[in-house]
Amino acid sequence: MRKPFVAGNWKMNTDGRSSIELAEGIASGSVDAAGQSVTVAVCPPFVYLQAVAKAVGTSNVAVGAQDMYFEPNGAFTGEISAAMLKDIGCVYCICGHSERRHVIGETDELINKKVAAAVAGGLLPILCVGELLAEREASQTDAVVTRQLKEGLAGLNSEKLSAVTIAYEPVWAIGTGVTATPQQAQEVHELIRNLLTGMYDDQSARETRILYGGSAKPGNAAELMGRPDIDGLLVGGASLKVDDFLAIIQAAV
Ligand code: PGA
Repeated sequence: MRKPFVAGNWKMNTDGRSSIELAEGIASGSVDAAGQSVTVAVCPPFVYLQAVAKAVGTSNVAVGAQDMYFEPNGAFTGEISAAMLKDIGCVYCICGHSERRHVIGETDELINKKVAAAVAGGLLPILCVGELLAEREASQTDAVVTRQLKEGLAGLNSEKLSAVTIAYEPVWAIGTGVTATPQQAQEVHELIRNLLTGMYDDQSARETRILYGGSAKPGNAAELMGRPDIDGLLVGGASLKVDDFLAIIQAAV
């Protein structure tokens, strides 16, 4: 059985004080919301990771980074390695978020190196895939998601895959208030699971958690997670409000 997983992606939001308040609020409410039956993570900006890791303490809330670089150390100004993230208590790392693909210009090849380096460094990567609106309208959703999944996971064997969570985030649904319908999301999640069966095996595909992301909120969380292949949510905007994020965690039970 796949344990539901709800992760908050704070993006470039919060400050020193509000990041700690948000982390404390989520940490103190999440056991009441879901006990130990849901995996919960928050992904603050790099500069607040350490303070947030301290604020969540020994609660059931884990901390993740929003990105990382694939090299272990060296002359890479501005970058952060997997070992550094691990060192300060990070458990997860988002790789290939659509804002990094489409705003910063990351390629499938770079994202693949990050996923591999995250696993090698003992982090649990969350590999994001998802099509643009124009790609959906041109019936290219399956082709785009297939390419991003295959290239993102290239070179990873099934043992390494077991460290990976996939997040399907249609770009047209991110931060727009337009959520994919549960049926639209389920179709792509099913495609991803079938692809994993072909790339690996039945068991690996069955055990891999696939999250949906894109305007997830308390009002649509239960319906989305009620679909057979939607194992949780990667939440942006609604993860910045304690009550909304806790309501989404509760909907995952
Ligand atoms: P959103 O962002 O929930 O604000 O749409 C989701 C994400 O980008 O991970």
